Amino acid sequence: METQFPMTYRRLRRNTALRRLVADTHIRPEQLIQPYFIYEGIKEAAPLENFFGQYKHTPDSLCRTIEQGLEKQCTSALLFFVPQNKAASHFNYDFDTKVLEQVKRQFGDNLNLFVDVCLCSNTDTGHCGFLGGNGAIDNHSSVQELANKALAYAQAGADAVCPSDMMDDRIAAIRQSLDEHGQSEKMILSYCTKFSSSFYGPFRDAAKSAPSLGNRKSYQIDPANSKDALRCALRDAEQGADILMVKPGLAYLDIIHRIKTHPDLSTLPLCAYQVSGEYQSLYVAAENGLFNFEDALLETLIALRRAGADMIISYAANRFQELAERLS
Ligand code: PBG
Repeated sequence: METQFPMTYRRLRRNTALRRLVADTHIRPEQLIQPYFIYEGIKEAAPLENFFGQYKHTPDSLCRTIEQGLEKQCTSALLFFVPQNKAASHFNYDFDTKVLEQVKRQFGDNLNLFVDVCLCSNTDTGHCGFLGGNGAIDNHSSVQELANKALAYAQAGADAVCPSDMMDDRIAAIRQSLDEHGQSEKMILSYCTKFSSSFYGPFRDAAKSAPSLGNRKSYQIDPANSKDALRCALRDAEQGADILMVKPGLAYLDIIHRIKTHPDLSTLPLCAYQVSGEYQSLYVAAENGLFNFEDALLETLIALRRAGADMIISYAANRFQELAERLS
């Protein structure tokens, strides 16, 4: 088409310096949160199978790795504890709380210390809550235990507890329990919008948390129900969540955008979780020669930020500086 004023948008794309000058989406390493798996009862750290660059940590290897991350501006960690034994109830969190104390003692306020709060690594069924007599999830007793666990973690030094269970009204119960026990400064990062997804595969192996019977569809959100997703975000905001989360990330960019632009939610910090299966699929595809892993990963992280995530939980958070150098 011939126009009097040709549309010369390409002028601004001519070289790296220009592209970086006009870019409107940025990621700083401080906006990323690195998950870590800490195993009770192991003597040495070991790589996790089928989960690139991730480890089964001992308390000491965890602290060393966090320290190396801090040197690269990775200032936030999300801890997942993997207990040695499973049980029907009466879980013991002594190992977890000792590790939280150790990490807090060593890093203080230089590190934002997030900790996942769920029951799926503890229960002998692998479900995120207790099952009642009829075989269905018992919301009330599950929420009570989640509130106990969150309080123990907060008292041990966690800055933020992150309930990932998807029981109803756990945010209100946790907030109340924290406030009543002198922990009112501790944050709740709510996995408010967590979908029932295929993309949690590598994580469930790592956390030994796959359900031994059934699935999680009665508590995690149906991918085909965006109204339920928004309703959960609104409820958790009202019940006192300090930070909201959408999980997984890439398949749910519309949800991220809708929460970030919703009049009652847009002022709350929003986190996106690029989950294990999303991350590992990129790695496996790259291993098969489809593309470069780091470039593809960076592209997806930018997509999450562009959709409206203020922060991202990423399995590459502690090596993000290397990735960022690839921006061109
Ligand atoms: C536990 C939990 C899961 C993830 C975080 N917390 C798994 C699940 O709900 O089955 C997934 C994280 C990932 O895949 O990276 N409730």
